Amino acid sequence: MSTYTEQKPKVTTRRLAEMKQRGEKIACLTAYDYTTATLVDGAGIDLILVGDSASNVMAGNTTTLPITLDEMIIYARGVVRGVKRALVVVDLPFGTYQGNSKEALASAIRVMKEANAEAVKMEGGSEIRESVERILSAGIPVMGHLGLTPQSINKFGTYNVRAKEEAEAQKLISDARMLDELGCFAIVLEKVPAALASAVAQQVSCPVIGIGAGNGCDGQILVFQDMMGMNHGFSPKFLRRYADLAAVINDGLEHYVADVKSGDFPSAAEQY
Ligand code: KIV
Repeated sequence: MSTYTEQKPKVTTRRLAEMKQRGEKIACLTAYDYTTATLVDGAGIDLILVGDSASNVMAGNTTTLPITLDEMIIYARGVVRGVKRALVVVDLPFGTYQGNSKEALASAIRVMKEANAEAVKMEGGSEIRESVERILSAGIPVMGHLGLTPQSINKFGTYNVRAKEEAEAQKLISDARMLDELGCFAIVLEKVPAALASAVAQQVSCPVIGIGAGNGCDGQILVFQDMMGMNHGFSPKFLRRYADLAAVINDGLEHYVADVKSGDFPSAAEQY
């Protein structure tokens, strides 16, 4: 087990800003449960996102839309209990902040009080300006999310790369500037051209965290199950696999089944 968390001070939004200033890249990852969060935190990940991708990878939905605030809070509680060093950010799920800013603040407050999270993430730009402002004014740090915003899949119709056209790229730049000026502590850019993401990272003061947005971002984020190879059905170009956990787990499971069926498990040493 790594002792990284014992050597390094707690990550705060201020520390992330300092990392950008000194050109230190920010390593981010998702987690949705206590056990995974202890491993991810122990390895020195700076920011852990309890993403609404839990809707896909934990609950088996085809989109992020069905997950509820109650479900997000349950996932987030486990993660927070497992983390000592990383900053823990929780996604506000679809339908909990788009309606009006009072509802948005109430959702963010629930995440902070009931899960003990440290920040929230929200998808969108100018459309959600009032909600972002209201949440920030309550002292809750907000991470923006632009580019491919999976909560809007029914509007876009595909998960293809966003902002390839000039008009959409210009809107993305103006939204990123707005979120930065409002006081968001970081912005996720998902699946946009690398040159655009790099330009945004240079134009805003807060850290820009990329997923499928190239190497010019201030940090990177991936979904744990994807980068650990637990989910072979999902292979976008941007994904680098760091392990083949599906194969490791499958191997262990097959051995267990065989050992139970043959009577090899439990042995004399494994019983009372
Ligand atoms: O929900 C999620 O996992 C995310 C990341 C892909 C950034 O929003």
